Amino acid sequence: MRIAIGADHAGVALKDQLKQWLIERGDTVDDAGTHSTESVDYPDFAAAVSHRVVDGRADRGVLVCGTGLGMAIAANKVVGIRAVPIVDEASARLAREHNNANVIALGARLTAFEEACELLRIFLVTEYQGGRHQRRIDKISALDTHS
Ligand code: RB5
Repeated sequence: MRIAIGADHAGVALKDQLKQWLIERGDTVDDAGTHSTESVDYPDFAAAVSHRVVDGRADRGVLVCGTGLGMAIAANKVVGIRAVPIVDEASARLAREHNNANVIALGARLTAFEEACELLRIFLVTEYQGGRHQRRIDKISALDTHS
C-alpha cells in the first residue's frame, strides 16, 4: 500500500517509528515531514498528506500530532478527505467498515508506539463495507459543495 505520512513536532518521533514499521511491513511510505522537533503548525502537514491522498499519490494517509485532533480537523477541510482521530481498536475498524475513512490521525501524547501500530494495522487491513453506508458517504461528499 502507498502511505503518505506526516506529523508536527509533537508527533514526529511516533511518526518516524510508524514510518519504519510500515516500511518493514512492505508498504511504500511518502514522508511529508516534519523532520525535527522544532515547533511547526500541524495544518501544514495535514494538508500535505491530504493532498497526496486526494491526488491519488497515496492510498491512505497517516497523521500524527499530540492528540490526533487538530490533524483530523485540518485534514477534513480538504475535499475528499475523511479523516478520523483514533484511540481504540473498535473505532479503527469501524472507521473503515462504515465511514470509508482514508486518513487516520493518531495522538503521540495519547497512544504508545505498540498500540499505534495495532490501530494503524487495523485501519490498513479493514475493508469498507459499502452497501447502506455508501448513501451516507455520498451525503458527506455532497456537503463539500452544499454545506
Ligand atoms: C501541539 O502542541 C499540539 O497542539 C498538536 O500537536 C495537536 O495535539 C493539536 O491538535
